[in-house]
Amino acid sequence: MDNIEIIETEPPGEDRPPSMPPRPVRAWRVAVIANVKGETKLPQDAPADAGAEFDRKETIEAIQAAIESDGHFTKFLSADDNLPFALRDFCPDICFNIAEGIFGDGREAQVPALLEMLRIPYTASRVLANAVGLDKTMTKRIWREQGLPTAAFQEFTSADEPLNPALRFPLFVKPAREGTGMGMDSGAIVSDEEALRRRVAWVVESYQQPALVEEFLSGREFTVAVMGRADAAKFSRRPEWYAADGFHRFPILEVDNASSVTPGIYGYKAKTLHTGEEGVPGFLCPADVEPFLAEKLQSLAIRAHLAVGAVDVSRVDIRLDADGNPRLLEINTLPGLTPGFSDLCVIANAEGTRYQDVILEILDLGASRFGLLLEHGQEAVKPLRVPALMHMLPAMATMMLN
Ligand SMILES: Nc1ncnc2c1ncn2[C@@H]1O[C@H](COP(=O)(O)OP(=O)(O)O)[C@@H](O)[C@H]1O
Ligand SMILES: [Mg+2]
Repeated sequence: MDNIEIIETEPPGEDRPPSMPPRPVRAWRVAVIANVKGETKLPQDAPADAGAEFDRKETIEAIQAAIESDGHFTKFLSADDNLPFALRDFCPDICFNIAEGIFGDGREAQVPALLEMLRIPYTASRVLANAVGLDKTMTKRIWREQGLPTAAFQEFTSADEPLNPALRFPLFVKPAREGTGMGMDSGAIVSDEEALRRRVAWVVESYQQPALVEEFLSGREFTVAVMGRADAAKFSRRPEWYAADGFHRFPILEVDNASSVTPGIYGYKAKTLHTGEEGVPGFLCPADVEPFLAEKLQSLAIRAHLAVGAVDVSRVDIRLDADGNPRLLEINTLPGLTPGFSDLCVIANAEGTRYQDVILEILDLGASRFGLLLEHGQEAVKPLRVPALMHMLPAMATMMLN
């Protein structure tokens, strides 16, 4: 932590918790916060695919290596009920948050909420967007209200609620608040009311949450990565990356479900297979789409991201209906970051962007929102002040005791 420079606290802005203390500009202490498979305990009555969203240790290590390659110091902190104490001991300047959370309807918002309370900077989306993004029904309500295209739908909290007669079979049934294709196999597509009610009952019972019922979209499937925000270029090491609206256009990824182990859909089993394995869907990046459609998909993804208040990075899933019209499926405000495997990493790789640069871009975009990075051309570095060291004292004490 040589040459620590600090910048003056800026007044609270829209994307910044209030009363930020001064922070060092470089050589940050970065906590990588996640739920790791095998390390986070699950409730005994959890469904068979519970924990599918959790990360692998190797992913955490890859993120740490990427951040350390820029000269920072990192530590992995597990997103469980010990986190408040681990944060107090480590005293991070910023947290790289990819935690799925462990329980409840807003679990992806748990870590952001804690960090806001402790006034610790962190990357990517904040409390509300993470909670909304996890809830597919709520997300669709917001999109619909903003005039964005999404399949007609109805949420069921129990299997015997009256069915909206405007919905046309086949319908698709999924847990309203899961990810990684959980609860989705070919049985999710239902062609009559009896099958619909059976499937809704299974989802509600197994996942202890509402079932989202949508019209089945039979067309092509795409996933579109979104990165940036209006002022991204002011802080980025690659300002040329960002268009005038502040967003980077990644190539579009098409998921070809024809050969999928969950035929026609990108379900749980298909999502857990690796390239080369039997039943893995086809992935095409850049997707072979007309420039007009590509532009439409990208602009829809950005509008979908902004509508739910997502920040800096997300991935939006889109499918075409039978007439070829794009319909928004869901947004991932904490997109997977497993090197060479997660969609965002595959997409970045397809345009020649290294894993390390994706991670550092997310870190810098987050850091800049909390005043840890100076705008290009800004030189307002002030001498180190005592309060900048104050927040490190408990960590120094812990290090000395160990
Ligand atoms: N309404 C729908 N019509 C057709 N396929 C769907 C529909 N909703 C979801 N799917 C299929 O299920 C997959 C997973 O659904 P998604 O809503 O993206 O949830 P997850 O969070 O698990 O990725 C999609 O990638 C798609 O293949
Ligand atoms: Mg999805």
